[in-house]
Amino acid sequence: MADITIVGTGNMASGIAARAARAGKSIQVLSRSADRGAALAAKVNGTSGITGTDAVESGLVVPATFFPVSKEILETYGESLNGKTIVDISNPVDTGTFDSLTVPAGSSAAEELQRIVPNASVVKAFNTVFAATLGEGSVAGQVIDVLVAGDSTEATAAVADLVSDAGLRPIVVGPLRRARELEAFMLLVMNLQISDAHPDYNWDSAVKLLP
Ligand SMILES: NC(=O)c1ccc[n+]([C@@H]2O[C@H](COP(=O)([O-])OP(=O)(O)OC[C@H]3O[C@@H](n4cnc5c(N)ncnc54)[C@H](OP(=O)(O)O)[C@@H]3O)[C@@H](O)[C@H]2O)c1
Repeated sequence: MADITIVGTGNMASGIAARAARAGKSIQVLSRSADRGAALAAKVNGTSGITGTDAVESGLVVPATFFPVSKEILETYGESLNGKTIVDISNPVDTGTFDSLTVPAGSSAAEELQRIVPNASVVKAFNTVFAATLGEGSVAGQVIDVLVAGDSTEATAAVADLVSDAGLRPIVVGPLRRARELEAFMLLVMNLQISDAHPDYNWDSAVKLLP
């Protein structure tokens, strides 16, 4: 049994795995590639398996994948996810135009994922954090904020605890429907990042709330 299962071996998977390992968590990595999974697992002293084939061995699952793939993963694992916490990190931005989200108006990726696994608890987190900043855990000397939204008090607290154990600052912003604003906000932030008019807001920047 692991503390956390990370699906994928990309930028966010690597960053979150490294942070979780620093928090002393035991990690299961699921990848489509045995080699990529084993390589990331070796870095964090974890175990690995094949996505869609091997069982999820923890109670907290992070599909570190793009939204359409996250949907497929939850559909595949289905009822085996009952009672588990699913952390949705996705930014469902139309990267063809950077002008809209790919989720229906009045919803969010997190809520769409919750519909697929009604007996699991989806929590939105990490979508406001950029992978390039997870190694340091801080930007410009400021600890990175991780905005967290969820309907289950217990699951939301578990994710906030993970964030804080990982040396980042969790800010619980409300119920899962707040994911709509978290996702829309990142559409705006990504527009700054791709804009020549804002050269300082790049992929190594961070969203920070100052009290
Ligand atoms: N990059 C960022 O700074 C950032 C910031 C905030 C949020 N996000 C969100 O984080 C998520 C991941 O982004 P990323 O930048 O880490 O992407 P990425 O580097 O491309 O990694 C995505 C991973 O998903 C897995 N994957 C891809 N297609 C798959 C499929 N058909 N079935 C199963 N697994 C598949 C792959 O792992 P395997 O090949 O090992 O299976 C891949 O490494 C996205 O939803 C993104 O919106 C990213």
